[in-house]
Amino acid sequence: MDAVFRIAVQWLHVTAGVLWIGGGFYTILVQLPALLASPAAARGAVMPSLVPRQLNYTFRVAEFTIVTGLLNLFVSGRAQELTRLDTRWSWAILAGIILTVGIYAASRATVGRWALRLIEIGPLAASGDAAASAQMPLLADRIRRFGYVQITVGALILLAMVTARFS
Ligand code: HEM
Repeated sequence: MDAVFRIAVQWLHVTAGVLWIGGGFYTILVQLPALLASPAAARGAVMPSLVPRQLNYTFRVAEFTIVTGLLNLFVSGRAQELTRLDTRWSWAILAGIILTVGIYAASRATVGRWALRLIEIGPLAASGDAAASAQMPLLADRIRRFGYVQITVGALILLAMVTARFS
C-alpha cells in the first residue's frame, strides 16, 4: 500500500512539474511569437480570453507541483536529510526548492502583472492609440526575456530533481 501511495504522489508531482515547465516552453517558444506576428486587432481580440486562463493554469499547476513536491519529501522517507544537508540528495532537493519558490514568486510579481497590463492596453492599441501601441512591444519583450529566465530555471529544477533521484 505504501508503494502505491509513493507511486501516486511521484506520478502527480512529475506530471504537474511537466505541465508547468512544459507550458512555459510552449508559451515562450510558440504562443508569444505567434501572437506578436498577428495583426494588432486580432491580438487585442484574443488576449482578454487567453491571458487570464493562461495565468490561472500556470499558477495553479505550479502550486500543485509545489504541494506534491513537499508531500514527496515525506513519502520518500528522506526528508530528515534536509536538516543535515550531508548528502547529494539533500543539496539537490534544496536547490530545487529554492529555484522553484524563487521562480514562482518572481513570476507572480512580474509576468502576471505585465500580462494583465497587455490585456488592458490591447484594445487601445487595436483602436489606434499610439501610446498603447508603443507600449505593447516593450511589455511583450519583457515577458519574452523573463520567459527565457523561466525556462532556464525550469530546466535547472529538472536537473536538480533527476540528480536527487539518482543520489
Ligand atoms: C517545492 C518544490 C519541490 C520539492 C520539495 C520537490 C521534491 C521532490 C522529491 C522529494 C522528489 C523525489 C526524489 C527522489 O526520487 O529521491 C522529486 C522528484 C521529481 N521532481 Fe520535484 N520537487 C519540487 C519541485 C519540482 C518542480 C518545479 C519540478 C518540475 C520541473 C519537479 C520535477 C520532479 C521530477 C521530474 C521528479 C522525478 C525525478 C526522477 O525520478 O528522475 N519538482 N521532487
